Amino acid sequence: MKVDVLLGLQWGDEGKGKIVDVLTPQYDIIARFQGGPNAGHTLEFEGIKHVLHTIPSGIFREGVMNLVGNGVVIDPVIFQKELEKLAPFNIDFKARLLISKKAHLILPTHRLLDAASETSKGKNKIGSTLKGIGPTYMDKTGRNGLRVGDIYMSNFKEKYDALVEKHVGILKHYEGFEYNLAELEGPWMEGIEVLKSLTAVDSEHYLNDAIKSGKKVLAEGAQGTMLDIDFGTYPFVTSSNTVTAGTCTGLGIAPTKIGSVIGIFKAYCTRVGSGPFPTELDDEVGELIRQEGREFGATTGRPRRCGWNDIPQLKYAIMINGVTELSMMKADILSCFDKIKVCTHYIIDGEKVDYFPFDVDGVDLVPVYEEIEGWNTDLTELRSYADAPQALKNYVKYLEQKLEVPITVVSVGPDRTQTLSNK
Ligand code: GDP
Ligand code: IMO
Ligand code: MG
Repeated sequence: MKVDVLLGLQWGDEGKGKIVDVLTPQYDIIARFQGGPNAGHTLEFEGIKHVLHTIPSGIFREGVMNLVGNGVVIDPVIFQKELEKLAPFNIDFKARLLISKKAHLILPTHRLLDAASETSKGKNKIGSTLKGIGPTYMDKTGRNGLRVGDIYMSNFKEKYDALVEKHVGILKHYEGFEYNLAELEGPWMEGIEVLKSLTAVDSEHYLNDAIKSGKKVLAEGAQGTMLDIDFGTYPFVTSSNTVTAGTCTGLGIAPTKIGSVIGIFKAYCTRVGSGPFPTELDDEVGELIRQEGREFGATTGRPRRCGWNDIPQLKYAIMINGVTELSMMKADILSCFDKIKVCTHYIIDGEKVDYFPFDVDGVDLVPVYEEIEGWNTDLTELRSYADAPQALKNYVKYLEQKLEVPITVVSVGPDRTQTLSNK
């Protein structure tokens, strides 16, 4: 058996949570491979909206195992809150949720360091979600981090204190940054106890044994390709590998075990936080997309920046990830437009550029657009792709031709049922 991967091709919030939930009945295990509570994955069914941050989006389906992989970073406080929010739905976490012993822990001081670092950057700030992601991955690669497996060891408190002392030393360098650590530590230690009540595993063995015995695994990405630490719009990125390769390191799966790679993108494009966004619409069109699409962050509530789709950007993401099929989300949001624009290439300092280059910031970049006929009709009641308006089918065909990958899913609303198969 191979492991299928589902990940974002833009700057996050493409609708990963929704599609993972829709696909879950086809799988035995859903495994998150990177990121942490900076993610906000939304699922909607039976009139209820759920937002998950660390827990994989397969959690609502019975008989499916959900794994938080070694590449993920966990904040015990946020994790506990997530579990509490799910309490009314009577999910048996003991039976449905596993945590890798090698997943790293976000300490309260990681969050403080994130905040102090962002404040000190002033107008150059990354626009971090302030969940402590950067400092936690820094400690991971700096070989100082604490992992889930450590919480069972008798010297855990010693290790924790040593790391906190180090962080307090660093925080002293941020002049005027005030904090109350004691206030944060109580809930954190409480969260550690909750973590202990769940099942921690050697997840790389668990997964490889499962694959060997014929189990189907779907790896769930967080963030998006353009936020990848290596291939995103650095430094305005997150601190993990959000791309397909991150599945191998974030779950302990060999590259030869990767099967389908489902790349997910919106019918337009959004970004939250700072950094370059070549097709951003800083006008009433962008505002209309934001209002129609309710483009406000699931984790921070911040307004998302909106723009048209960008072919060089999407082709770049498809190349890096080895995408084999595409899901196009939020087609319903473009129903208000007579014409839809798509960026085909850029003019950078007077030269035509049809790929996503190293530097898209600080250069004179003009996106060049093609106009496509809009469908101008409500899509949210559609339940079959065959019944879709011809103009939507033309848009899908146009993108398939440009991107050279089939669009097998078209989403026309946030609910599970508003998902059209184009296989
Ligand atoms: P994720 O981080 O990739 O899981 O995406 P988010 O949950 O942060 O953001 C996607 C938002 O769009 C959520 O509010 C979803 O409920 C919503 N959504 C997903 N697909 C569709 C769709 O096809 N149409 C509409 N209108 N909303 C959608
Ligand atoms: P999901 O999984 C959108 C952005 C932040 C910021 C940058 C770095 O819901 O798609 P970080 O907190 O990681 O240090 O922030 O990355 N960012 C996201 N944007 N969706 C996300 O996750 C994001 N996770 C981080 O806004 O610009
Ligand atoms: Mg999100």
